[in-house]
Amino acid sequence: MILETQSGSPDRRQIIDGIVARTGIDEAMIERVVRTFYERARRDPLIGPIFEDKVHDWEGHIARLCTFWSSVALMSGRYHGQPMVAHLALPIDTPEFNRWLEIFAETVSEICPPPAVAHFLDRAHRIADSLEMGIAAQKGEIRRQRPRSERTMPRVREASHGD
Ligand code: HEM
Repeated sequence: MILETQSGSPDRRQIIDGIVARTGIDEAMIERVVRTFYERARRDPLIGPIFEDKVHDWEGHIARLCTFWSSVALMSGRYHGQPMVAHLALPIDTPEFNRWLEIFAETVSEICPPPAVAHFLDRAHRIADSLEMGIAAQKGEIRRQRPRSERTMPRVREASHGD
């Protein structure tokens, strides 16, 4: 038998409730992470200027990124967009992605409990790898998945969840 899970259905609600119970992540935590991350990223000498050059409506960007992380971390389905398209023309490669991940890792480690840190960082790594690989492929180059270093994936691991 095939069970279909639709947006807003009891099945989806149960999945989200399970993630919230296991990690403590909710919309308020996501907003704190996103706001703190951008306060730091904007001031960073390497990646700050790239944001300042492109983002002119910061509240709009932050609201969009909150829906993005809600969809990624809580599977809420709130984000509708194309992150790859938004990054293809930006001057970013491995050093910029590494820095992005370091600032994100620092931010979630300060704000979130360990299961939430692991949940956020696992997803951030996967998405950063996929954006970096897509940008490189567009230039005819190949990138490997980055190693999960202590600086970008500190200490905690998401144990026994199997995802
Ligand atoms: C070197 C690293 C990165 C830089 C400098 C960067 C910069 C930017 C900039 C400037 C925009 C706005 C683009 C525009 O409005 O024209 C943007 C959008 C966005 N970024 Fe990044 N980004 C980076 C990495 C990432 C990563 C790793 C993620 C996810 C884990 C991410 C998620 C997003 C999302 C969801 C959007 C909104 C796309 C949309 O319009 O729907 N970014 N980024």
